[in-house]
Amino acid sequence: MTAPVVSVLPDADALAAAAAAYVAESSAAAVAARGRFTIALSGGSTPRKLYERLSAEPWSGQIAWDRWHVFWSDDRLVPADHADSNVGLAQRYLLSRVPIPASQVHPTPVAAGDPAAVAQAYEAELRSAFGLAPGEWPRFDLILLGLGSDGHTASLFPDKPALQEQQRLVVATPPGVLPPPVDRVTFTFPVLNAARAVAFLAAGADKREPLKRVLAGDTEPPAARVQPTDGELRWMLDTAATAR
Ligand code: 6PG
Repeated sequence: MTAPVVSVLPDADALAAAAAAYVAESSAAAVAARGRFTIALSGGSTPRKLYERLSAEPWSGQIAWDRWHVFWSDDRLVPADHADSNVGLAQRYLLSRVPIPASQVHPTPVAAGDPAAVAQAYEAELRSAFGLAPGEWPRFDLILLGLGSDGHTASLFPDKPALQEQQRLVVATPPGVLPPPVDRVTFTFPVLNAARAVAFLAAGADKREPLKRVLAGDTEPPAARVQPTDGELRWMLDTAATAR
């Protein structure tokens, strides 16, 4: 496990600009090496500024969008047009503005049934898209993640059974203590840790406490268990999240 690459930007806008450059660079490298770019988007509110940057010049004209394959590391079980949908956020500020082939965008199948059925359907889609044999894990080029003020990431909330999952790719979970209070589906730690690169984006003073604990080596916050087995771990932060 290599040490994380930590970068601190002056504010949330500068963080989004740096993150957009990083995503564009990751995309170019993956396409050059393997002809495609597999990315898992995170949720919450932080990614919006990143999506707005990626869908505008200079990146919108430089990125090979037709080589992108898009998943979500987690989502709330609400319709895509709901204000709380992680898929809806990406559709509004990125996917509706750039030409990624629809067949290469894999939204969480929230209409597939109860939370367990949604998780099973999403796992099947993940296995099919990556051509996985039983026991194999998808190796994303990049997984974007956020950090909750309770130390969660994706929808891997403190004290929930999903933290212990080592067999499944995707599981359902009840909500944690942070809103919105809706059921979720989430990638499990083995999927996150199989990635070539994982980048956390965290901005704002409410991330200070969990961030300090994670970067100090405290393993209790769920986000601390994201340790790519053979990949890069990057923390992209703003000063508000790191101030003493
Ligand atoms: C979710 C997210 C979650 C998010 C963090 C940070 O579905 O809620 O995936 O892990 O990334 O809670 O959220 P903010 O970006 O809103 O601070």
